[in-house]
Amino acid sequence: MEAQGVSVELGVNIDHVATLREARKGIEPDVIAAAKVCELAGAHQITVHLRQDRRHIQDRDVELLAQVLNVRLNLEMAAVDEIIGIATRIKPHSVCLVPENRQEVTTEGGLDVSSQQERLTEVVSRFHEAGVKVSMFIDPENEQVDASAATGADFVELHTGAYANADEASEMDELNRLVQAAAHAIESGLVFNAGHGLTVRNLRPVAAISGLHEVNIGHSIVSRAVFIGLEAAVREMLDILRSVSA
Ligand code: PXP
Repeated sequence: MEAQGVSVELGVNIDHVATLREARKGIEPDVIAAAKVCELAGAHQITVHLRQDRRHIQDRDVELLAQVLNVRLNLEMAAVDEIIGIATRIKPHSVCLVPENRQEVTTEGGLDVSSQQERLTEVVSRFHEAGVKVSMFIDPENEQVDASAATGADFVELHTGAYANADEASEMDELNRLVQAAAHAIESGLVFNAGHGLTVRNLRPVAAISGLHEVNIGHSIVSRAVFIGLEAAVREMLDILRSVSA
């Protein structure tokens, strides 16, 4: 039986549809078509990361998504002038500020907000003036939650990578770190989201954390789509979220 309560929302990160396209620098698979399939399957948001090295999502993808989506567009980005300029012009619903390192395979850790709080406060104001909400992608640490709240950000997205990669012995500790940081985020007046490394196998305990608003899931959904199709892969995640009382 489905649990009562408000279901956690699903943002689908479609970067790796673009990774496949960029493997041949062609037009397939079509990122915009993929986004519309996710939308029709019930996703609440489409998330893309416009990296400075443009290894997957391209500027044109973001422009087109902003025009054709009926659900929210969330742009992951480094807080650098070039990308801030693009984002304040295109005006997605929200931006999620992430650390970016050119050598990394994927976003490795959370953004160190506390060491650059003053600058990030200015960045948040620029986005708010443009009518764009701001999320900070942070490790589940009180210091980073406090610094995020101090910048005026609307959301924090807690990095679930350490939990997702944990072995059996440390999985509970990592989950507890998320639970604790989530409670602190809510006390601090922030809306809290979660993402990175989530799969059908590890999503449920995270989805059950009290007050969770949204998860952003990419690699696992695109990987599952190879076998069961994108629509079914999105629905599978939505079913899990609906079955957990938020
Ligand atoms: N949230 C953020 C802020 C991310 O940087 C990423 C990876 O791009 C994700 C969510 C999605 O992570 P994954 O692809 O592991 O599901």
